[in-house]
Amino acid sequence: MTAHISAQRGDIAETVLMPGDPLRAKWIAETYLTDPVRYTSVRNMYGFTGTYKGHPVSIQGSGMGMPSASIYAHELLDEFGVKTLVRVGSAGAITKRLALRDVVAAIGASSESSMNRVRFAGLVDYAPVANFDLLRHAVDVGAEQDKKVHVGQVLSSDTFYSEDDALQKKLADYGVLAIEMEAAALYTLAAKFNARALALVTVSDHLISGEVTSSEERERSFADMIEIALETVIR
Ligand code: HPA
Repeated sequence: MTAHISAQRGDIAETVLMPGDPLRAKWIAETYLTDPVRYTSVRNMYGFTGTYKGHPVSIQGSGMGMPSASIYAHELLDEFGVKTLVRVGSAGAITKRLALRDVVAAIGASSESSMNRVRFAGLVDYAPVANFDLLRHAVDVGAEQDKKVHVGQVLSSDTFYSEDDALQKKLADYGVLAIEMEAAALYTLAAKFNARALALVTVSDHLISGEVTSSEERERSFADMIEIALETVIR
């Protein structure tokens, strides 16, 4: 039992998928897990545990942004013995190399958030990176499922409605593929707690062309990504 998760130790699997939206957590649990049980509903930020092909897996909503996601990730890693965290979310593309609905596996996550600046006393620009084995498995699974998985950097931003197009262009020039809002914090916390983390995101909107996915397309690409994530974590 923690401040934000009303479960007992043992209720939560060592492997957790983290969507931002708690209703997506419910949908994943009900669609893909065998015998899913909800272990928390504090603040309606649902968490479920079930099995996928016989392997215990939990799905925990994280909310949006690094402060919210960090609360859930910290409690999972620190109190519930979680060893593998995979974020499953969406991102805005800032390069023409990506199309709507593509999947990005974030090898690293830059950020303008102050969270790590505060954590490292303003002295170090810490580089939050994915767990290599999870990243490699995700790429392999994507290829086996005939789904293109782009490997590259994301920006974990505190701002959804950014006004700085020039900065986005500059980040793209330096190899950043897309903007999302949680990966840097999850990678940092996984490192702190000696656990593994990976962020998978689908491109829900294109910040250069202005294209956005319809809700039906978002659902389909989200499902494609969940199938990659679940096969990745049982390798
Ligand atoms: N910015 C940040 N996070 C996002 C975006 C975006 O444009 N699209 C989906 N998640």
